[in-house]
Order: sequence, then structure tokens, then C-alpha cells
Amino acid sequence: MQLVRPGEKYLASYREAIEEDAVYRVGKECLLADPDTVIATAKRFEEGVMLPMGYVRQTTFWLVEGERFLGEIGIRHELTPALLRYGGNIGYEVRYSESGKGYGTTMLTMALGYCKEELKLEKVLITCDDDNIASARVIEKNGGVLENKVVNHLERGTVLTRRYYITL
Ligand SMILES: CC(C)(COP(=O)(O)OP(=O)(O)OC[C@H]1O[C@@H](n2cnc3c(N)ncnc32)[C@H](O)[C@@H]1OP(=O)(O)O)[C@@H](O)C(=O)NCCC(=O)NCCS
Repeated sequence: MQLVRPGEKYLASYREAIEEDAVYRVGKECLLADPDTVIATAKRFEEGVMLPMGYVRQTTFWLVEGERFLGEIGIRHELTPALLRYGGNIGYEVRYSESGKGYGTTMLTMALGYCKEELKLEKVLITCDDDNIASARVIEKNGGVLENKVVNHLERGTVLTRRYYITL
């Protein structure tokens, strides 16, 4: 099991994960993007080329086993006022069929190493919906300390957001 940059050989499996989201996670927060453009977009975001207004550089990793896609984690290199309220430095998703097996916790642990060693960050902010118990546990098991909860008005509705910091 390893964290890799998005690549062609995992795309068939990535498409299956999107199909799982469409069936089992209707109306939920889903991270997975258009498989036709995901690789090029990830490269562009990591390099900081032609980012949309208000967006910051981001490194995307896929957790894979062989050619099987297990999950995705996106690391934003810096915070904006909007990300400070919602989104934070790191977002992640484990494919539905592989959830509840510890991959979310492991994937975040691996990504924190990159944040510290490569990005030289001293702490990261991670946010999650107040009722997203699995995500909150993933953060807490990686040393997250709850800073506070804030109300956010999003396209998908009004949500209560937990804000956690992890010191690296
Ligand atoms: C949140 C998510 C990444 C967790 O990944 P995961 O691989 O299932 O998590 P883990 O197996 O490492 O489990 C972490 C903890 O969550 C708990 N957990 C897992 N699924 C759960 C569920 N459906 N309900 C309650 N707790 C759950 C586990 O028991 C574990 O806690 P424990 O060690 O105290 O027992 C995954 O559920 C997911 O991708 N959800 C959809 C996208 C999402 O919500 N992303 C986060 C946005 S902030």
C-alpha cells in the first residue's frame, strides 16, 4: 500500500470508486473528480499553474494497492480566509467498498509526513462536518485537537463544521 501521484494505471479502479459514490453516497461530500481530467488537473494544481481565482497550490495523492485505487487525499499548501473556515489544509476520501478498514487513518498519517518533510508545515488545519464521526475519528487518531466549531452556509446547506489542528 502506498501514496502515489494520480496515474493512468489506477484510472479504471478510480472510475469504479466514482460509481460506488454514485450509488452509496448520494448527497454526501465526495471528493473524486472527473476521471478524464483528474491527472492533468492534479499536476496543474501541484505546480500552481493557472489556478482559478482564490485557489491555492494542492498536492493530490492516491492510496493504492497494486493497481487498485483505495482513496484520495488532497493537501493544500496554504490557507486562505475561506479555507480557514471550511476545507482547511487537507481533504480525503476512502472509496466506499474499502471504508472502515483503517485506510483513512493510515492515509492521513502518511500525508502528514509529506506536509512536514516536503512542505515544511508546522501545523495543519483539517475540518469536517460535526456529524461526520468517521472523519473526526481519523483526525483525532492522528493527533488532531479540536479548536472550535463554526457554522458554514454552503451550496449543500448550512453545516456545523469542526476545526481541528494537528501539530507536526
Ligand atoms: C471519513 C472516511 C475518510 C473515513 O475513512 P475510513 O477508512 O473509513 O476510516 P478508518 O477505517 O480509518 O476509521 C476511522 C475511525 O472511524 C470509525 N468509522 C469508520 N466508519 C464509520 C462510520 N460509518 N460510522 C462511525 N464511525 C466510523 C472507525 O471505527 C474508526 O474509529 P475507531 O478507531 O475509534 O474505531 C471515509 O468514511 C470517507 O471517505 N467518507 C466520505 C468522504 C468524507 O467524509 N471525507 C472526509 C471529509 S472531511
